[in-house]
Amino acid sequence: MSQAKRYTITAALPYANGPVHIGHLAGAYIPADVFARYQRLRKREVLFVCGSDEHGAAITIRAKKEGISPQQIIDKYHSLIENSFSQFGISFDIYHRTSAELHHQTSQEFFKTLHEKGVFVERESEQFFDEPHQQFLADRYITGTCPKCGHDAAYGDQCEKCGTSLSPTELINPKSTLSGEVPVLKKTKHWYLPMDQYQEWLKWWIVNEQRDSLKANVYGQCRSWLEQGLQERAMTRDLDWGVKVPLPNAEGKVLYVWLDAPIGYISATKAWALKHDKRWEDYWQKPDTELVHFIGKDNIVFHCIIFPIILKAHGKYILPKNVPANEFLNLEGNKISTSRNWAVWLHEYMQDFAGKNDVLRYVLLSIAPETKDSEFTWKDFQTRNNSELVATLGNFVNRTVVLTNKYFEGFVPPAGEFTNLENQVLSALSLQKQKIEQLIEHYKFRDALYELMEIARIGNKYLADTEPWKLFKQDPELVKTILNVALQISANLAILMQPFLPETAQKLAKMLNITGLLEWENAGKTALLKNPHQIGKEELLFSKIEDTEIEAQIAKLNASKKTNEAAHLVETAQNATLKPAKNTVTFDQFAGMDIRIATIKAAQKVPKTQKLLQITLDTGLDERTVVSGIAEFFEPESLVGKQVCFLANLAPRAIKGINSQGMILMAESPSGELHLLAPQTILPSGSVVG
Ligand code: MF3
Ligand code: ZN
Repeated sequence: MSQAKRYTITAALPYANGPVHIGHLAGAYIPADVFARYQRLRKREVLFVCGSDEHGAAITIRAKKEGISPQQIIDKYHSLIENSFSQFGISFDIYHRTSAELHHQTSQEFFKTLHEKGVFVERESEQFFDEPHQQFLADRYITGTCPKCGHDAAYGDQCEKCGTSLSPTELINPKSTLSGEVPVLKKTKHWYLPMDQYQEWLKWWIVNEQRDSLKANVYGQCRSWLEQGLQERAMTRDLDWGVKVPLPNAEGKVLYVWLDAPIGYISATKAWALKHDKRWEDYWQKPDTELVHFIGKDNIVFHCIIFPIILKAHGKYILPKNVPANEFLNLEGNKISTSRNWAVWLHEYMQDFAGKNDVLRYVLLSIAPETKDSEFTWKDFQTRNNSELVATLGNFVNRTVVLTNKYFEGFVPPAGEFTNLENQVLSALSLQKQKIEQLIEHYKFRDALYELMEIARIGNKYLADTEPWKLFKQDPELVKTILNVALQISANLAILMQPFLPETAQKLAKMLNITGLLEWENAGKTALLKNPHQIGKEELLFSKIEDTEIEAQIAKLNASKKTNEAAHLVETAQNATLKPAKNTVTFDQFAGMDIRIATIKAAQKVPKTQKLLQITLDTGLDERTVVSGIAEFFEPESLVGKQVCFLANLAPRAIKGINSQGMILMAESPSGELHLLAPQTILPSGSVVG
């Protein structure tokens, strides 16, 4: 394999509709950053780009929810996100944004080129339209019942309950979230990318050129899409927030995410090139450039199928060399969800665990969902910090530095004769370096981190075996050798940890006084530090995380879950369909009903039934028994003494062998919950309602 001349590394553009969380970091940004840092350390030319995706319904919906304008939303979250990334050391060369003028120009130009080449098919189709608001509805603006699982709050593009992806017309009882009305179908024109025409080429490309390099999870998804057969897809949408379609008679139409967000990688490159006096084309159009997209699994189709087709159709661009997508990270047994606030937000983590950004990088890399979904738990986070970072890595370095300062005033002691043990330990350094290189080049960051920690484990074991702290009096020469070896290991750690734990690497380098020696080529060397090099003072690299801190995090998660359940109830109720209106009745028909207030005297479950309660009522006129199907909503004891509305002249009937004389009236919420109807103040039983 010939070495690429330069790397263009991209990380998915996050929507600027909310803060970023640990799932984002683990899925795309940390792996991308490890890769970028590593390639830079190997002295390869790297351009690492990202930015905020500031268009589409994701933004306008959030704006509506927060009651501010889309522009305010993107400004707010763009800086929040940018800040979080920089705090976690994600070393983008540029973090751009798609609202930038340069991006609008770039994506419009791209669209025009494709249009002029006759790539698109123009087609009229029927789409949902909100009459009161006079606008076409983005898929996300339509809710209804999922045809697959019956969930009553599915979105026009996806049911979040069963995960099925939908098109809005498949929804049962569709409703516009703008007006709450049933949307109507209306004709509209769009530009479609006929992906079916690229099927053969794409299949060839994936099978012949990508198969060996793509990760199994990514290749698998591509194959299954190809097997289903590619279909044309609209590249434009009716929306007023986005990049305008650059054609006459295209008012109210914007480029859909496919022709907007990934072009953001290109416009980010342009913005960077302008500033640094470079040619952006080198990074996108030269065959000796390797283009690598880091994304989460929800974007695989987008980057392995749609975007390559777009690049190919344009004709001038290189295609991605790899798309090392990760699967999903779950949190404490559940899917991470922005809308349900089930997440660990990066800006909140930074507040709660100030100075521990590398700890999160470490944990998220060690559990990265590289091959399948994985799970973050606070307990595991604590264990990895306390027993790996503190007890292994931190402890090893600390003992080495403390003893060197204590016995030799910080001067690196000269090594004497090596025994087998020293030879063995030191030879591991170059071996580990090679392993780490191989693993990173194959996008196995989790294993690479493991091999880095292996060095710390070897060092820790070496100190535990030789116990230099017990030897100084009787054999100072031996202690010199041991600490020399331990210092070489520490220096190697500082170099090799740079892609993974950049801040800690700096801290350690400062402590060892080797900030000028951090070149990657220096790793593997066994005499990197030589007398009379003097190291600095000891400083703890990591500190223990206490149970109370972990408990507080878990409590915080659970609290947000409760508020969300309540909010969700309200939302479902709003989305649930009301029962249709009934036919008109005459006044006489209504007046014929004898509705009264009654007081519940006793209540008990009807044996062998789920829903029925047998209730004794004081009606003012008499004492009666009614059977009522409300057992799922009320404990019998809780009803005694309550007042209810009651239809007194309903013809009696036998229910489960009990003579039911009348009916208790209930209010049923749209989501199907039953509630008692009672007067606002206690009234004498028998009072008439009418
Ligand atoms: N913002 C979109 C998402 O988060 C698209 C990201 S991928 C990119 O799903 F190509 F657009 F960057
Ligand atoms: Zn469903």
